[in-house]
Amino acid sequence: MIVHNKLANGFAYIEVNNSSAEAKIALQGAHLFHYKRVGEEPVLWLSEVSDFEADKAIRGGVPVCWPWFGFNEDKTLPQHGFARTALWEFVCGDEVDEKSSSVTIKLTHSDETLKMWPYKFLLELKITISDKLVMELKTTNLDDKSFSITQALHTYFSVSHISDVTIKGLDNKPYLDALTWKKELQKGDITFNQEVDRVYQEVDCEIVLSDKKRVIHVRNENSSSVVVWNPWIEKCGRMSGMKKDAYESMLCIESANAFDDFKVIKPQESHTLMAAIY
Ligand code: BG6
Repeated sequence: MIVHNKLANGFAYIEVNNSSAEAKIALQGAHLFHYKRVGEEPVLWLSEVSDFEADKAIRGGVPVCWPWFGFNEDKTLPQHGFARTALWEFVCGDEVDEKSSSVTIKLTHSDETLKMWPYKFLLELKITISDKLVMELKTTNLDDKSFSITQALHTYFSVSHISDVTIKGLDNKPYLDALTWKKELQKGDITFNQEVDRVYQEVDCEIVLSDKKRVIHVRNENSSSVVVWNPWIEKCGRMSGMKKDAYESMLCIESANAFDDFKVIKPQESHTLMAAIY
């Protein structure tokens, strides 16, 4: 079943239910904020105190960072781009079979986006819900000049406790440490006992997240960068839409095209970033 719904304040979202999983996707930001397999706990973390309000990014789920990841050189422009707070348009819903459904949502240029980023574009996000979650973010250049983008499907995972977490798959990968702006090399698996904000590069394999309750696999296509982020104690208390102990139950593994992995897209050409979570 694919149903259009609204919160009391008018915030619109799409609810998907099939025999293997359920999901909720906000039209603002094409923001998937709930995904759960039948009989299991939610895969995605969602802040208990997140706002569902016009022009404010939801804290949790999968924000779409586009057409830039991180901050812009022009500090008057929003961190992680404008797509996560823009109002997208529903394109279609497809009940593939009883176990799988997909929803496609699009965003295109407007007077407002052209002021922030001077290019014509079509951005489409297709989310497929089954016992696997698949997100395909397709950028098409509708302009007559090339443009370059950085982007991320900024997935927040719910974890039993951050101290139980191990991430495998990034051993020996170079990364940019966004806390020091130094380039480093990962040695071994990743565990957490402090703030982590890193952009891993040259990533070409599956990433495996495990905690006390489960193992989750992340496989990306057309992407060689992955961001790993946990704000830890001090920063968490200062983040919008986050309780001060939220860092204990969440962790972001972001499927990205960031820093050296930026993409140049020529007129009439497309690029699709894909993330599969299972
Ligand atoms: C991560 C960045 O992708 O997003 C962090 O690496 C940032 O530096 C985090 O703090 C959250 O960003 P925001 O804009 O949603 O608060």
